[in-house]
Amino acid sequence: MAETASKVLAIREAMPAVTRHVYLNTGTYGPLPLVAAEVMRVILEEELADGRIVPERYPLAAETKQRARAEVARLLACSPRNIALTRHTTDGLNLAVMGINWQPGDEIVTTDMEHPGGQGPVFNVARRYGVVVRTARLGDGSGDVAGVIERLLTRRTRMIVISHLTWNTGAVLPIDEVVALAHRHGALVVVDGAQSAGSIPVDVAALGVDVYAIPGQKWLCGPEGTGAVYVSDEAMDVLNLTVVGYASLAAGGLEIAGSYLLPKPTAERFEAGGVNLPAIAGQAASLAWIRECVGYEWAYRRIAELGQYAWHSLSRLPGVTVLTPRDRMAGLVSFTVEGIDPPTLVQKLWEHNIVIRSITHPPCARLSAGFYNNEEDIDRLVQAIAEIRRDL
Ligand SMILES: Cc1ncc(COP(=O)(O)O)c(C=O)c1O
Repeated sequence: MAETASKVLAIREAMPAVTRHVYLNTGTYGPLPLVAAEVMRVILEEELADGRIVPERYPLAAETKQRARAEVARLLACSPRNIALTRHTTDGLNLAVMGINWQPGDEIVTTDMEHPGGQGPVFNVARRYGVVVRTARLGDGSGDVAGVIERLLTRRTRMIVISHLTWNTGAVLPIDEVVALAHRHGALVVVDGAQSAGSIPVDVAALGVDVYAIPGQKWLCGPEGTGAVYVSDEAMDVLNLTVVGYASLAAGGLEIAGSYLLPKPTAERFEAGGVNLPAIAGQAASLAWIRECVGYEWAYRRIAELGQYAWHSLSRLPGVTVLTPRDRMAGLVSFTVEGIDPPTLVQKLWEHNIVIRSITHPPCARLSAGFYNNEEDIDRLVQAIAEIRRDL
């Protein structure tokens, strides 16, 4: 107990934003650790002084990107050859959904719990290519998810697009069961890992997923404009490239005369051109810091503990209804407060120096319990909600 408290204290000292505010919004953007900000500052200063294109910077750029891919690979328990760097989760989801040569009448199964980052590419191919979208109605995500999805699969299903942890109710969905069903039907499974990466253990090979898209800026506490995507070897054979450039190509992989194009043999083929190197260095630094100084297993345990603590504390509060299914959750807790709409509640909490967010579907407020939070943060939120209700 004392050990946890001193570790949490050290972590909080390394993340200034979390002592300045009661910061409970990692599901939107996580707080940056000092080490990431420092790495970014040093690279920016070098770029300013050096002019960015001196010869040493080419290998530095390649090494920095490879370090980031390797860190993501450790997080997801896979080989770096299956990782491409992206700008955000949505990038990874788009490159997967756009990678099929869709025919009119082909089908995608998705759920009614997806974020626009997943819905956008799905409904885009529906509009462009006449793909039929079948939507699984999952309630709060605590029921028989695989059973509901199974009833929507047909001979024409080519892909399932689904979140691992739902952004609106905070439910962890049974991805392994969905993969087993999908693969029996010959369909690919594309997972939105925006809320799961860094908040629950993810082993992409054990899950059997084809594509797993993640952000850098949420539970992994990296800078904005960073993300990554896992693409399995099998999916790499199937998915076409949608955005292509020099970064996608094997050495000598483009020959104009023969209209010849050879992508890299790894998932790097999904990267196209120039990148924001300071941001990628910051992403790699945040990931390495969480792995080495926080510890992923410790972080997952702490997030789960704090999520449960928040769930119980809010449930006991008169006028509060918690929407998150308690036995299928991690660190996201969604709730409503009688007599006050979610955006107004979020604003009033900000006046108490507490940061959470509101959600539109279903209308609710949502807190994210990060590994750097403590029970006192949750107590302050609960107390502030009680005060806000009293003053209504
Ligand atoms: C489940 C889910 N998917 C996708 C996104 C979009 O994330 P990104 O900005 O990394 O594309 C979010 C972020 O809010 C999310 O919660």
